Amino acid sequence: MSSLNPSIPSDELEAKLCERLGKLDLAAKVRLLSGADFWSLPADDSIGLRSIVFSDGPAGVRGEVGDERNPSLNLPSGSALGATWDVDVARRYGDVLGREALRKNADVVLGPTINLHRSPYGGRHFEAMAEDPLLTARLAAAYVEGIQAHGVAACPKHYVANDYEIERHTASSEVGERALRELYLAAFEDAIVEARAWVVMSAYNGVNGVTMSENDLLRDPLKTEWGFDGVVLSDWIAVKTTDASANSAQDVVMPDLLSPWGDALVEAVREGRVAESTIDEKVLRVLRLAARVGALDGVEPASRAAGEAPEPLSIVTELGAESMVLLRNADELPWSLAPASIAVIGPNAMCARSQGGGSATVVPGRVISPLEGLRQHFPDASISFDMGVPAPTEIFPLDRDLLGDPVAETPGVHVVFSAADGTVLLEEVRLSAELAWMGTMPEGATTLTMQTRYTPAITQRCDVGVAVAGHVSLSIDGETVIDRFSTAESAGSRDGGLETSDITANIFAPPVTAVPVDLVEGTPIDLVAVCDLTTAPLPMVHAIMIGMAPRSGPDELMLAEAVAAAAAAEVAVVVVGTSSRTESEGIDRTSLALPGGQDALVEAVLAANPRTVVVVNAGSPVLMPWHDRASAVLVTWFGGQRTGTALAEVLAGEREPGGRLPTTWPGDEQAVPVGPDRPVDGKVHYAEGIDIGHRAWLKQGATPAYCFGHGLGYTTWNMSDLTVPTEVVGGEPFSLSVTVRNTGDRPGKHVVQVYAARGSSEVSRPVRWLAGWSVVRADPGEAVRVEVDVPARSLAAWVDGKWWYETGAFDLLVGASVDELPLQATVVVGS
Ligand code: BGC
Repeated sequence: MSSLNPSIPSDELEAKLCERLGKLDLAAKVRLLSGADFWSLPADDSIGLRSIVFSDGPAGVRGEVGDERNPSLNLPSGSALGATWDVDVARRYGDVLGREALRKNADVVLGPTINLHRSPYGGRHFEAMAEDPLLTARLAAAYVEGIQAHGVAACPKHYVANDYEIERHTASSEVGERALRELYLAAFEDAIVEARAWVVMSAYNGVNGVTMSENDLLRDPLKTEWGFDGVVLSDWIAVKTTDASANSAQDVVMPDLLSPWGDALVEAVREGRVAESTIDEKVLRVLRLAARVGALDGVEPASRAAGEAPEPLSIVTELGAESMVLLRNADELPWSLAPASIAVIGPNAMCARSQGGGSATVVPGRVISPLEGLRQHFPDASISFDMGVPAPTEIFPLDRDLLGDPVAETPGVHVVFSAADGTVLLEEVRLSAELAWMGTMPEGATTLTMQTRYTPAITQRCDVGVAVAGHVSLSIDGETVIDRFSTAESAGSRDGGLETSDITANIFAPPVTAVPVDLVEGTPIDLVAVCDLTTAPLPMVHAIMIGMAPRSGPDELMLAEAVAAAAAAEVAVVVVGTSSRTESEGIDRTSLALPGGQDALVEAVLAANPRTVVVVNAGSPVLMPWHDRASAVLVTWFGGQRTGTALAEVLAGEREPGGRLPTTWPGDEQAVPVGPDRPVDGKVHYAEGIDIGHRAWLKQGATPAYCFGHGLGYTTWNMSDLTVPTEVVGGEPFSLSVTVRNTGDRPGKHVVQVYAARGSSEVSRPVRWLAGWSVVRADPGEAVRVEVDVPARSLAAWVDGKWWYETGAFDLLVGASVDELPLQATVVVGS
């Protein structure tokens, strides 16, 4: 073993890698550039190379197989991390992921997602961090450092301008050079240049007419100016060409399925259409990655972080609370006295969305819902639960604790994959009735049979059914109750939220069919679902859920029951949120309104109980027409598997809601400056240029419901004595300082935000823009002198193909959000 540190480029390492490369013939080299299967690259024993394994991310590590028998930690999603505004938290987040990856035998975590919340209508924004490039860039870099400290690669994605989902495989983002540099590329830059990410994923979409896996942006600035020496990985099945993609700076095609490289690429080299040196460069990058993650014999992996592992579930709880944003608080929170009775209301209270839908989904162990969190935390309170409105996704997974495998006579679900001739290809006992196989189904399987015995815990009228694409039949106690074919594209949805042409929605938001069933406490029912896999819309991947929900309706009765419970309780907690039909990979939103009658529910509860706390379980903004009448509004995002515990601790005041909005929350859709913007003729025009998010709201002179940076916490703050250097040199970073005093009676967290403005500039500038921030924590009465770094780039503009540092006076405004900036100073930039 050598003592090389492969995370640092060196001649010695390069010589070793070249030596291995030299042992491979063309076919062997090309083989290393496409997936061996869905999740890994091929091994090559002749050069001591083992297979490199990828895992989705980015808010957990699924591993090659998502399996409830080996659950993954489910951290709060990307927008929740964005809301912490805290780079130390982001580094710890990455640290947890690095440890998870080692536990799950993954070498590369496919995250962070570094796309921007360009418009609030993006259906996958829960995965990305913010609307602001600087906030995103700093948090993403820390996240990458946290992971890679474990010798596990991070993979910033999706490079670049993949900020919407509709037609994401084919559409082109038409972006001006300045916006590309100052926003969309800038969001990636720190993760590459400072944190030195070892892998980057190219996006499905095109930029300015060229699909990203063939786009020059992979070379410039990524591999040239930014010095990226890692692997450019494709998004799954994104690469469609042989020569054009191989001749671009795309290095690796994933997965094996539908890869246009392989033999076709060998031939392209033999025929001189692709140079062998191009292949060599790609293979060298793969070998460099292998060295870094410890997949190459004879090279020690990059350092593995020492230090004691934090208790994973408590960190998930802490992250959940750190990210929660208290938007409004009319002296309601925290509860100094535990309420004697709490009416918990809303479908998301019982079945919380702890994570978003799509490839980001991991299979966690127990998820603590708000209802369960409150019941555990307030054992002496009388706690009622009412849905109030029908469940937006019709059914929830069957409670694992109530399932029995009638064949194996153990807890769980009996699963059998069989071939057309009836041969059993795989038979196993699973613990959950919600299962997915991502490229891991047995080859040749044509039928999937799931069998379970469900013993209800209470007597009630329910909807029982299946969520799956393709042809399925469901029988209950031997009688066929469902026999249908459906796909996500054809199904539509109850809340009207789903409109998709993306085939992956069949996995992430599969169509639901359910029938009414009278369940009797303690009396089991036998459920058998049979899927005809030959009718499944996607090859090799399949997802199915057998589920139930308390029978919906009549709607007026559900509402009346919730209102009565709210009126009778000391406090009402209404949990509202989006569903997998409104926020998931492959989907953009058609409306920012809460789906399925939830606004009317909140209104009715507010009228019934003046002490109503509204909890918003969404990954990105929703309209809240009632917000200024609630006694408190708390955004919990997709808060991870301990979201209910974190919520209860925040309500009780044991933890402070530490989040600040990483993205602007509109009050009404008409005012949204960058709207839904569907592709037209395959193009999305980023016509707003550098003004997205709060910059766009300011430019338009419109007022959102809650502005960028807003969040209350539980204490009060005063800022004074702003000191700014009078003159700085253009192109060099500087810092300013300010005294921050905790004027309340609780310890707390404050985010000191600095915005820059330039009254008259030679180029167009936003009205003001985020230039830096610092997180400070202080005890009651404590005053802290806080330094805020302003990176050199904060005042720069991209002009004529380079960064331009305009000289003269810039205003610096300091405060607690983009709209609350009590302190101001001027800095003069010299040349
Ligand atoms: C997503 C990626 C993901 C990949 C593998 C794609 O559809 O866009 O983010 O990492 O699938 O699951």
